[in-house]
Amino acid sequence: MIGIFDSGVGGMSVLKEIRKILPDEPVVYYADTAHCPYGEKSREYIIERARFITETLMARGASVIVVACNTATAAAIATLRQEYPETPFIGMEPAIKPAALSTKTDVVGVLATAGTLKAQKYIDTREQYSEGIKVVEHIGQGFVELVEKGTLTGSEAEKVVEASLNPLLDEGADVIVLGCTHYPFLSQTIQKVAQTTHPERSIQVIDPAPAVAKQLVKVMTEKGLFGTESEHSETVIMSSSDASVAEDFYRHNVLNSNADNNTF
Ligand code: DGL
Repeated sequence: MIGIFDSGVGGMSVLKEIRKILPDEPVVYYADTAHCPYGEKSREYIIERARFITETLMARGASVIVVACNTATAAAIATLRQEYPETPFIGMEPAIKPAALSTKTDVVGVLATAGTLKAQKYIDTREQYSEGIKVVEHIGQGFVELVEKGTLTGSEAEKVVEASLNPLLDEGADVIVLGCTHYPFLSQTIQKVAQTTHPERSIQVIDPAPAVAKQLVKVMTEKGLFGTESEHSETVIMSSSDASVAEDFYRHNVLNSNADNNTF
């Protein structure tokens, strides 16, 4: 069984990609809604939550864990790998490398949480791949809250998105890296705002979720973790708050969504 977790429903952008390429594997998803958002929390706090959730997912049968949260990956994945050496952990990488290859203006914009932007893991990735280009960053202020309440489009979402996106576009960014797993659910709004405020520029939005899903398949193949044919596809949604809210979000925005929220 594949275990996936995030501070809330954001990691479902990764679950969605996993379901596209592994439709039959059983999955248990944990939304840590009672402790959301992680973005401004301390590293110690996030490690404590990540440890508790890992044990909960393992008790439910998970043999591989996807940390479908950039903030938790940056804060806790090294500790989890050390403390649970038998369990493979797949984490989120800010997609600066593909962005650097795609930009035509030589300016890449990164939207992420405060926790991700200040983490050494992010700083190292940026150093490694940003030669010859300018990387500009902004916290997606209020984005997580919008997604958690299911407000993905409309004037409220556009206003919130515009306040954090426009500083990046004003600096010349033509590629926007989504460095938080909640943000792909706002991709449509991000594109709309970019087209309205900077109509002269075509903007590419990069979500690392498809690459993470591929990495999961690679690790599961290497470790021999694919189930037998008798197993049936099942998606269990757990939450530290009311699981029915996360289940509704899953039904509306993962199962019944025809729109591809991801890479444009
Ligand atoms: N979805 C998360 C991430 O990828 C966490 C957002 C938050 O809880 O602040 O960073």
